[in-house]
Amino acid sequence: MTVIEVEKLRKNYRSKPAVDGISLRVERGQIVGIAGANGAGKTTLVECLSGLRQRDGGELRVLGMDPWTERRRLQQRIGVQLQESALPDALKVGEAFRLYAALYDGGDWRTVMADWDLADKQRVRFGSLSGGWKQRLFVALALVGDPEIVFLDELTTGLDPVARRTTWTMLRKLRERGLTVVLVTHFMDEAEALCDRMIIVGNGRVIAAGSPAELVAETATDSLESAYLALSGTDLS
Ligand SMILES: Nc1ncnc2c1ncn2[C@@H]1O[C@H](COP(=O)(O)OP(=O)(O)O)[C@@H](O)[C@H]1O
Ligand SMILES: [Mg+2]
Repeated sequence: MTVIEVEKLRKNYRSKPAVDGISLRVERGQIVGIAGANGAGKTTLVECLSGLRQRDGGELRVLGMDPWTERRRLQQRIGVQLQESALPDALKVGEAFRLYAALYDGGDWRTVMADWDLADKQRVRFGSLSGGWKQRLFVALALVGDPEIVFLDELTTGLDPVARRTTWTMLRKLRERGLTVVLVTHFMDEAEALCDRMIIVGNGRVIAAGSPAELVAETATDSLESAYLALSGTDLS
């Protein structure tokens, strides 16, 4: 079942295109990676998909809804961790969960908090959490409303290797439960380990799309990292 359909999506900032005619489809229960250089339009794409920005052109359906005109209804069924996510330093973990639960109709935040080992951090202030625990909190908060799709924008950027691996395990568990995950990442080892499909963007357009194995085969390389570099036109010689 297709949960995200994008047809010739366009978004400009002033008159400069950030997303310049992207088309893609995402099937339920997949982890789909979005990669591309800084400024390629990844965050703008995620913002349009999650109803946080109005598009300038093209067609968009997420869970059958128009993310902009039906965003209130859509937001009950998706979870979003934005690249620039932040919470006030003084806010306690338990308070953050209550705050997010209030945004959803009847989110079971206590279960999510326990699932993500955050229960004994309830009284810890956001500002005293390490980077890894902050990221864990953001994923957990994105799941409070029991969403069908989660959008995670550069979730593991800045994490140490152990925290990254822990995050991978957590994302695999989400997929096992049937969630669809849209993951913006710069790490090709992460994409190779996790993603069913990859969408590589450059200058607001799709450069390539397919499973990691397909992209490796298409470029006659031996790893997704080499495939990515070849597809982005990087000359390694
Ligand atoms: N709020 C904004 N106002 C103006 N330009 C923006 C804004 N957000 C992003 N851009 C520009 O749009 C392009 C795409 O940005 P972005 O979607 O953040 O890319 P990515 O997430 O791939 O790094 C970049 O050229 C960026 O400078
Ligand atoms: Mg970004």
